[in-house]
Amino acid sequence: MAERQKIVAGNWKMNKTFQEAQDLLFDIADQLDERGKGDVNVIVCPPALYAELATDLAAENDFAVGVQNINDHESGAYTGEISAPMLASMGVEYAIIGHSERREYYKEADEFLARKVRVALEHDIVPIFCCGEVLEQRDAGKQNEVVKEQLEKALFNLEKEDFGKLVIAYEPVWAIGTGRTATPEQAQEMHAYIRKLISEKYDEEVAESTSILYGGSCKPSNAKGLFSQKDIDGGLIGGASLKADDFVELIHSF
Ligand code: PGA
Repeated sequence: MAERQKIVAGNWKMNKTFQEAQDLLFDIADQLDERGKGDVNVIVCPPALYAELATDLAAENDFAVGVQNINDHESGAYTGEISAPMLASMGVEYAIIGHSERREYYKEADEFLARKVRVALEHDIVPIFCCGEVLEQRDAGKQNEVVKEQLEKALFNLEKEDFGKLVIAYEPVWAIGTGRTATPEQAQEMHAYIRKLISEKYDEEVAESTSILYGGSCKPSNAKGLFSQKDIDGGLIGGASLKADDFVELIHSF
């Protein structure tokens, strides 16, 4: 079973040209060199196209590389797609799976995400599985129900040993890219609830060792309040991961 860790993961989404990506990676590497990262596991998730660039740099520096999506098959006639074995062969260690943008724009549902999770695990890629409710669901008080169903359908079919390798990211959809962050209390409440669900499905030990990240307009000005909560182990960062200063500041916000 993986140890519970402090994690800051940057989700660049579909941003940066090659030159810009290179500049940002060098800037992050330099700042990490200067400031260190303590006991935080730093993960950078650029577009998969830049995986080699990132893993080359990561090898000499103190961060890991993830991608933002993965195909649910190992190989074959799936034009335009990228598989877990390919990514693993490039040194990619993590994959964001089930981000709300993929759920919304590409209609990815939990049963399908369950297959992506499995194929990632089979190739030693750690899934960073995203869950979270939309505003309508939060306003109707249905957030717990929604997150429970996402976890049940996509993850709770895993054996305990496999589940123990995952990272979970709670990302309330209404907070993503909107500047409207969940309050530390709202986030903590959901994280504690997720941990309780894991404990009920598996056991207390698995629940306590699972890293659960918060995502949604997390930035240097609000990170300390979030990261200091008992059940929040770090952040999945979108916008603020595109600037090295902000990203590295977040790493120092525990
Ligand atoms: P944001 O994105 O930090 O820009 O809100 C977070 C995410 O989508 O993972």
